[in-house]
Amino acid sequence: MLWGGRFKDKLNDNAMEFSSSLSFDINLITEDILVSIAHAEMLAFVNIISEDESIKIVNGLNSILKLYNNNEWKPEEFEFEDIHSAIEAKLFELIGETAGKLHTGRSRNDQVATGFRLWTKKAINNLSEQLSAFQKALLSLSEKHAETIMPGYTHLQRAQPISFAFHLLAYVEMLERDKNRLQFVFEETNFSPLGCGALAGSTLPLDRNMTSDKLDFSKPASNALDAISDRDFVLDFLNACNIGMMHISRLSEELIIWSTSEFNFIKLGDSFTTGSSLMPQKKNPDMAELSRGKTGRVYGNYTAVSTMMKGLPLSYNRDMQEDKEPVFDSFNNYFQALSVMIGMISTLTVNKNRFVNELEGDFIFSTELAEWLVVKGIPFRESHHIVGEVVKIAEENNAKLHQLSLEQLQKINPIFDETALEVFKVEGALYRKKTLGSPNPTFVKKEIAKWKKILIC
Ligand code: ARG
Repeated sequence: MLWGGRFKDKLNDNAMEFSSSLSFDINLITEDILVSIAHAEMLAFVNIISEDESIKIVNGLNSILKLYNNNEWKPEEFEFEDIHSAIEAKLFELIGETAGKLHTGRSRNDQVATGFRLWTKKAINNLSEQLSAFQKALLSLSEKHAETIMPGYTHLQRAQPISFAFHLLAYVEMLERDKNRLQFVFEETNFSPLGCGALAGSTLPLDRNMTSDKLDFSKPASNALDAISDRDFVLDFLNACNIGMMHISRLSEELIIWSTSEFNFIKLGDSFTTGSSLMPQKKNPDMAELSRGKTGRVYGNYTAVSTMMKGLPLSYNRDMQEDKEPVFDSFNNYFQALSVMIGMISTLTVNKNRFVNELEGDFIFSTELAEWLVVKGIPFRESHHIVGEVVKIAEENNAKLHQLSLEQLQKINPIFDETALEVFKVEGALYRKKTLGSPNPTFVKKEIAKWKKILIC
């Protein structure tokens, strides 16, 4: 018991069960012990405790971590309010009364804020590594498909020709932003609240710079009241998970569509698909569906924490204990979704020639025909209208654009000549794109080379 002095009765069992965070903040065990070790060493350095006491405490804390990691000790679920109390109780058991000196000048409020920040920094690094691995998987697939033509869509209606590599590179861009966003969160998380106490620091000469350095933070947080009350880093982290999952969810949706019989553009690997218990022919994209589905709960986690925080007066309120499960849940789901995405991208096969014939003379070349007219000096609005008529005639004749004769085109507008028919050809379509950032394979190959250099692969 951390605070028995003024209480006659022990906490009611239901109240303990309701309020204990041990079942989930056990995840913070390593970070909590690191925080305590830094604190104990600092207490000795500023002569608040002796060197011997500090060593005893540090050895005790290291033993606790070892016991836990070797499955030789696990705190009883509803015996303790949280991991911090459980560790302190165990320390008493291991080293006796000296354990009582560890909490000098410290509150669980700065302790939990510090440990949680450490945990979040580690989580960010793990996610960033996964994101790079995901980018690499996308790149190695795109290397084979700079010239694999497919329809690009808007409104899920065929819009203009693009390549499969170009499409994949769009995701490489998104993932880079996801990493940048996480990096921003890392910097916002990188301040040490240790030594802020319950809300207003301490009358003891704690060396906050020292603990901040020991724990590898950039510097101590500036205002104790803010440092204890602040969970912006949690929301920033959850938001980074939200946007990251949104990207995964969009790709999942595309993988699902591309792998349908109707689309038949890709085949997902057996190791990342499932069968049906009833229909023997089925091969279901469950991993993509679950990634899309789990995005919902990840969004929910942001809503939970932002709502929990919005009415809290400074500084700590017990409500804030509710910040942890959403973070662990978002992290786990995001991390796992990234793993299965990497697996799916690395094992899928692409039906390279799926669209070559189908896109010959397709309406997706309409914009290019309008641009052909622009080059001939016709204002774009007018050329758009002329091509609209071309499309109408083709539709009326149940024909594709390349099946129209030059005479039919000239009837709509005499400016059309032989060279206009060239724009209906699939062959060379991508190379006809002139702008930077377009699917022209020359640009796409340069982009792939650029990314390979950035990601060192
Ligand atoms: N389990 C608590 C949490 O995670 C630790 C802080 C408790 N502080 C307090 N003043 N009751 O937020």
